[in-house]
Amino acid sequence: MRITGRTRLAGIMGWPVTHSRSPALHNFWIDEHGIDGVYVPLPVPPEHLAQALRALPALGFRGCNLTLPHKQAALAIVDRVDPLARRIGAMNTVVVAVDGSLEGSNTDVFGFRENLRERAPDWKASAGPAIILGAGGAARAIVAALIEMKVEEIRIVNRTRARVERVADDLASPTTRITIHPWSERDTVQREAGILVNTTSLGMTGEPALDIDLSQLPPSAVVADIVYVPLETPLLAAARQRGHLTVDGLGMLLHQGRPGFQAWFGSPVRVTREQRAAVLTTLTGAR
Ligand code: ATR
Repeated sequence: MRITGRTRLAGIMGWPVTHSRSPALHNFWIDEHGIDGVYVPLPVPPEHLAQALRALPALGFRGCNLTLPHKQAALAIVDRVDPLARRIGAMNTVVVAVDGSLEGSNTDVFGFRENLRERAPDWKASAGPAIILGAGGAARAIVAALIEMKVEEIRIVNRTRARVERVADDLASPTTRITIHPWSERDTVQREAGILVNTTSLGMTGEPALDIDLSQLPPSAVVADIVYVPLETPLLAAARQRGHLTVDGLGMLLHQGRPGFQAWFGSPVRVTREQRAAVLTTLTGAR
């Protein structure tokens, strides 16, 4: 990499931001395409988020990604938010427009959809209900993606009922039925399902295990996890042993970066085996 007076800048704001794999995945694409650009981690505490976002145009940044804890707060700061991000209640991508204004969007929806298409090309929305474990920000993006893909029924299972009720209200759709289920139903709710997605942090290295029994899940169902450390979570390992097609969380992370990269650096990019391998090497020993 060479830094010149014309180097295009983008980065990721988070607090903390050291755990983020986004610099690895974007700088891989920058190198791959020989772009005069750089993508940097930007440790920004919550009380400085507005100031930091407003400074992007003045500093010549093309935009940035946002990670915890900024994904909700940024909605009230940027000049325009796309309707999908508004409905989800979280944004992860900011693009500085030509006039210096800030545009916010949520590319997790794209990331989930594209990764599922790549990893489970034979899965169809008509395969049966989708089971979503969890009701946090990631669950909201995935529910929005499944609605976009025209799944007829989504069953959301969550420990805290009030939280899942909000998701069902905010993302209500005329074409998809959303039903809500207590955590105690996580095994039985799987009957007839076409896909099951874990959006909780359970199963991540350092977090408690995800205690679930897959025996009622139809063998044709796809099992996906948003956790990618470890890459094969205990859920995915159990699903694979039962013969399910599994989709790991790293692919969603890689694909969600594509729209931002194209907006900031001007090149469409693909997720490749080489990029996955490059990002995977940064995960060794990570949480
Ligand atoms: P994100 O926004 O990144 O998706 P989050 O908001 O922290 O993350 O959401 C984490 C999800 O994991 C939530 O659905 C949470 O359940 P609650 O809404 O009841 O908090 C779920 N979760 C975390 N720890 C859990 C546990 N021990 N058992 C069951 N669910 C758990």
